[in-house]
Order: sequence, then structure tokens, then C-alpha cells
Amino acid sequence: MDVATDAGRHGRSVADLADLADLTDLKERAAHELATVRRRSLDLLDPLDERALTRQHSQLMSPLVWDLAHVGNYEDLWLVRAAGGEPGVAPSLDAMYDAFRHVRADRPRLPLLNPVEAHRYIGDVRSRALEVIEAIEFDPAVPLLAEGFVVGLVVQHEHQHDETMLATLQLMDGDGYRPLAPTPPTPPAPPAAPRLDRPAEVLVPAGDFEMGTDDDGWAYDNERPRHTVDLPAFWIDRWPVTNAAFQGFIADGGYRRRDLWSPAGWAFRVQSRLAAPKFWRPDGASWLRNRFGWVEEVPPDEPVQHVCWYEADAFARWAGKRLPTEQEWEKAARWSPERGGARAFPWGNGVPSEDVVNLGGRFFRPAPVGAFPDGAAPCGAEQLMGDVWEWTASDFAPYPGFASFPYPEYSEVFFGPAYKVLRGGSWATHPSAVRTTFRNWDYPIRRQIFAGFRCARDA
Ligand code: AVJ
Ligand code: FE
Repeated sequence: MDVATDAGRHGRSVADLADLADLTDLKERAAHELATVRRRSLDLLDPLDERALTRQHSQLMSPLVWDLAHVGNYEDLWLVRAAGGEPGVAPSLDAMYDAFRHVRADRPRLPLLNPVEAHRYIGDVRSRALEVIEAIEFDPAVPLLAEGFVVGLVVQHEHQHDETMLATLQLMDGDGYRPLAPTPPTPPAPPAAPRLDRPAEVLVPAGDFEMGTDDDGWAYDNERPRHTVDLPAFWIDRWPVTNAAFQGFIADGGYRRRDLWSPAGWAFRVQSRLAAPKFWRPDGASWLRNRFGWVEEVPPDEPVQHVCWYEADAFARWAGKRLPTEQEWEKAARWSPERGGARAFPWGNGVPSEDVVNLGGRFFRPAPVGAFPDGAAPCGAEQLMGDVWEWTASDFAPYPGFASFPYPEYSEVFFGPAYKVLRGGSWATHPSAVRTTFRNWDYPIRRQIFAGFRCARDA
């Protein structure tokens, strides 16, 4: 199967989520979500040969076969053992697939399961996990089980690794790999003609809003607890910054003007010789990009992606603006002045449909800005969810009253100034693994993730 052309195969995810509206039974939902994410993982790796699966394509990433067995090991730990009280399928593998025991750079030197063994292992774990779910009672008094939290933990974890594996696939061509089909994919047309005839910024009025969540069963510890935040009025861009706008920054000497960069950002720019988003190269007066091995013209109306936080920060300064804080981002994304409250999604409480958002790998690329006017938030900002993760100005920090759950290595050990928060999910993020309260984080130098940004300014 060709990873990038067969968008339909990966594109089932959005419809799958819509199906869930009917799945009131937690056990049915658990089985459905587990099957969906596993199909996604297997489809993703299906076109790759043994060497592509076992080789380390970049020092920044694990061999893909490590990710594959790691998601099975996580399921063994949390579903089979923690939730099911069973002995576990292969506890002897815990150390090898513990992300904290071995940094990514060292993983290729481990005696990893080979692809056939890894597939068998994750299949065995899945059989046991389904037996556990069959027998379990999702006791609302047990935090790990209430509303199927532990299933959410495992499902979201695998989706997150699917996105990580997509980033690895995007990096592969840097090693001279062309693992995908020999001809460029023709993605489906964007869902709607861009409507760009509206003001480029929207105003979010001053006042309180409710940030984070207490009652979303699958939300992580770092999204809790809900708390009131009072913000002054601010302007935020209606759309993520486009490739065309970013080319304006480049053409204006953005990468050469030290005054536009933070000191740490400038040092990184010089050391890494940054001159354009990752995977771009100049072609006369315009730019080409390499997307999953295919070289194509940079589409002007798509949100820019593969820029690090430092590049986003410099662009914002060049534009006379700044990055939004994550408080501002979340208020823009879900606060509804009419309802005087927060909504689940920017567009309301309806499930993420194909008309309002680009999630779940449907197009293998961001959609052009203006493609989802019906996905607008109450403030008018569009494409807050999907397309590209959006860098925010904020460090990853606990909310007031934070309590680590169910283990400190998911969130707590990452709190601090080393990581910047990203919001909203990308085209590669599955709808089951993103919320308007969801917080992603990464180092400000990271460029292989599917991240862009939008700007804000004080009102
Ligand atoms: C939330 C995406 C930053 O990939 O490091 C995967 C998710 N945690 N396995 C990461 C995660 C454990 C995490 N991010
Ligand atoms: Fe993991």
C-alpha cells in the first residue's frame, strides 16, 4: 500500500469518530477505538520493508519497529496488567521498550524484536487486552477505570506514536529513502474554496474564561483541573501563518536579521544554518518542498509547517506581533460569550466532521487557509484544530491544583521552561487524541513535527 496516496484508507478515522456518537456502551467504544488505531498503525507501516522498519532514519527518532513494539508494551502495562490485574504478556520486555530507560538515539543498538516478532507481540497483547475489556467493569469510583480512562490512555498513546512514526517517515527521504510510491500522490481537493475575503485578525474581548477540564473522561492530567483565567482583550490571527506569508519573511531577510530573534533562537539559527522551513529548498525565486519523498512547489495558501518555535517567534516579531499564550489560544478556541462558557470544539459540540476540520491523516498535508469557514470558533478564528500544531508562547507548566495521574512520566517530568506548548493537533492527529484542552509540548528547536503557528497581539 502506498502511504501517501491512499488517503481514503487513513481517512476513515473522521467518519469512525462520527460513528461513536451511537456507541454509548463503553466496552463497544473501547473495542472500536482500539481496532481503529491498530488498523491505522498497521496501514502506516505496511508499505515498509524490513530494513526501513529496523533502521534508524534520524537520531531524533526511534527505529519504527521500536515504536510498534512500544505501543504493545504500553498496552500490556496499562490494560492487561494495571486495569486487568493479569500477569502481563511479556514483562521481560518492559525495560527495552521503556522510553525513559533508553533515549531515542540509543534504541537501534538494543536487541529489539524484529518486525515479525513485534507484530506477533502486539497481536498477543491485543488479544489479552480484549479479554480484559470483556471482563472488566468500568467502575466510576476507580479513577483509572472511570469512563474507560485507561482505554483512552492506551488508544491516545498509540495514535500519538502513529503521528511520531509519520514524522519519522517524513524524515526518511533525508536518508535517501524513497519507500513510498514512485509517483507523487494526488491528494483529494481541499474541502472548500478558500474564503480569504475577511479580516485577517479577530478580537477576543477581555474577561474570564474556564480553562482546562474536569469532566472529559479521556483528558490527561495536564489538562486538569478546570480553572478560571482572566485575560485582557487581544487580537489573534484568523488563520495560521501561510507559506506565502512565511516566504515574505524570508525574502525580507528574516533569517539574517538578528534583531528579530531571541538570543537562544539566533544561536540555534546560526549553529543549524536555518534559512527556510525544514524540507524546503530554493528553486530560483520560489521554493520547493519535500513531502514524504515527493518534491513539489510550496503551496502558498497552506499553513507553514516544519518550523521550530524560534522561527515562529522571529516571524511574529517581524510581523509586529507575538505568539499567543496557550491561555489565549484556548480562550479563542472554545470560549463562547453567548453561552458564557466553554464548548468542546471551536465549532461547537458536534463531532469533528470532514466539513469542519482536517484531522486523522485525510490529506497527508495541511488544508489551505480558508478551507473550513464552518469550523470557526465563536471569535471567528478558523483552523484552530487540525492542519498544523500551533506553537504558543507558553512553557509547559502545571495548572493550579495539578495532580499527576496515572504516572508522573506522562506529563509531570516534562514541566518546566525547556518545553513549549503546542495546541490544536495537526492533519496527522487523530480526533480521538486531541481536544481544545489538549496540550502537546516539545523543545523549541524541533522542526520535524507537523507544527506551524498563528500570531496574536495586545488589543
Ligand atoms: C505528548 C506527544 C509529547 O510523544 O513524547 C508518547 C506523547 N508519551 N509516549 C511524546 C507520549 C509517551 C508525548 N507527547
Ligand atoms: Fe510512548
